[in-house]
Amino acid sequence: MKATAKAPANIALIKYWGKQDEKQRLPLNSSISMNLSHCYTISTVEFSSLYKKDQFQILGEKASVKEKERVIKHLDRIRKKSGISLKARVVTKNSFPKSSGLASSASGFAALTLAATKAAGLDLKEKELSILARLGSGSASRSIPDGFVEWKKGKTSKQSYAYSLYPPDYWDLRDLVTVVIDSLKKVSSTEAQRLVHQSSYFSARLKELSKRIQKIKQAFRTKDFPLLGKLIEEEAVSLHVVAMTSKPAIFYWNETTMRIIKAVQKWREQGLMVYFTIDAGPNVHLFCQAKDEREVLKKVKEISGVLDVITNKPARGGRLVSNHLF
Ligand code: PMV
Repeated sequence: MKATAKAPANIALIKYWGKQDEKQRLPLNSSISMNLSHCYTISTVEFSSLYKKDQFQILGEKASVKEKERVIKHLDRIRKKSGISLKARVVTKNSFPKSSGLASSASGFAALTLAATKAAGLDLKEKELSILARLGSGSASRSIPDGFVEWKKGKTSKQSYAYSLYPPDYWDLRDLVTVVIDSLKKVSSTEAQRLVHQSSYFSARLKELSKRIQKIKQAFRTKDFPLLGKLIEEEAVSLHVVAMTSKPAIFYWNETTMRIIKAVQKWREQGLMVYFTIDAGPNVHLFCQAKDEREVLKKVKEISGVLDVITNKPARGGRLVSNHLF
């Protein structure tokens, strides 16, 4: 009753921001993402009568009480589904440091779902795994399928799951995650999403989204990189306008974020095809084609306030692996 899984983090190109149903984590809009090759979580889960209570450990990090509770809640879902009552030991490892400010909830809950269901003796299909991962963390639903992924919002839990639009080798893109100095207290995406309706721009965002989703799918079909880039920037700005106009206002950007945005605009004027997207934090994800990776990397490293850059290729989704962490 022991299994290990590896799952990638993903970067949303069309973002999940706002829920129809908080408990079920049903989103108000569909979203589209790319799995990241160098940002992943490995998780080993063992159910055993030897464990008197659930144990959760993140190697090299201290798990918070909130994180532990969220993991135990997820184990409860899996115990209920499989009909077992045994307690579990969960050990996880992130390839990227917590201090990088990158959310590990997507890769974390995808890996936990895969490993725990297997260890509990369940044999679930991709769709069921994606639904279950979604209940742990919305964006985790997108870390189950391969490559470039769409999470269909759906009207019920059974309809709200992610599937692969294209395999990872469909388009040789790069996501360079620039880790910037972050001294601000972070508002979690769960908290921030509760505030969306207080922004008068939120309804405008939802209205324009279906068109943007269609256009982004067209950019993928035709591999039109400038179109893809333009759309992901519009999308990121739209999310942050909503955040900045929520009450209380949430500013995820800092001076370095802004410096990178300005630099990206300048580089494009100089002919370098690079675009940005930003999640619920100050780090900027730089999107470019494989041929421009070196040039973008060189340039972004020169910007003051950039601490680290993690280069990612499109990656496969979560899967079981044979090396256990304990
Ligand atoms: O899955 P959560 O609750 O951490 O929300 C993710 C929110 C964003 O990262 C900003 C967007 C997304 O779709 O990943």
